[in-house]
Amino acid sequence: MANLNTGERLVSEAATEARKLPTESDNWIKPLLHKSQKAKEFAYCPYSKFRVGAALVAHDGTVFTGCNVENACNNLGLCAERTAITKAVSEGYRSFKAIAIASDMEEEFISPCGGCRQFMREFGVKWSVFMTKPDGSYMDMLVEDLLPVSFGPDDLKKKKASSE
Ligand code: THU
Repeated sequence: MANLNTGERLVSEAATEARKLPTESDNWIKPLLHKSQKAKEFAYCPYSKFRVGAALVAHDGTVFTGCNVENACNNLGLCAERTAITKAVSEGYRSFKAIAIASDMEEEFISPCGGCRQFMREFGVKWSVFMTKPDGSYMDMLVEDLLPVSFGPDDLKKKKASSE
């Protein structure tokens, strides 16, 4: 799918047609970015020393925050995005408008790992991911652009060659 790169905004052409994407004038964006930066302050990352915060907004406007939570048993660590999504789902929310992600990287927008992209995709492909820098600048993309040609819940219901 071709991408249009307009400044710091990357959107797919199809997605632009299908729905209205958030714009700079949407007044919930800046507070959401700020919440992701505040969430970063709670990061538990004694091993990587790489703090990440996330702020997830549900369709009714409720915001869930998360940070990375590492563990002495390395592979048990949780990313900030998954912490926020898990908090939301465990409180009955499954429909999301956007997630903002914050780190301390000065010159790079924090980009979600592959596992978190798949975790987001479970709850739809047409919602926004705001990847930020500490100065408040951001790049936003849809989940479907971060994880194209993805596997999701509907695939489990598709017709199979064997009936076993
Ligand atoms: N991490 C996140 O929480 N989210 C991301 O988008 C990238 C990486 C965490 C995982 C680990 O605790 C630390 O950052 C270094 O990889």
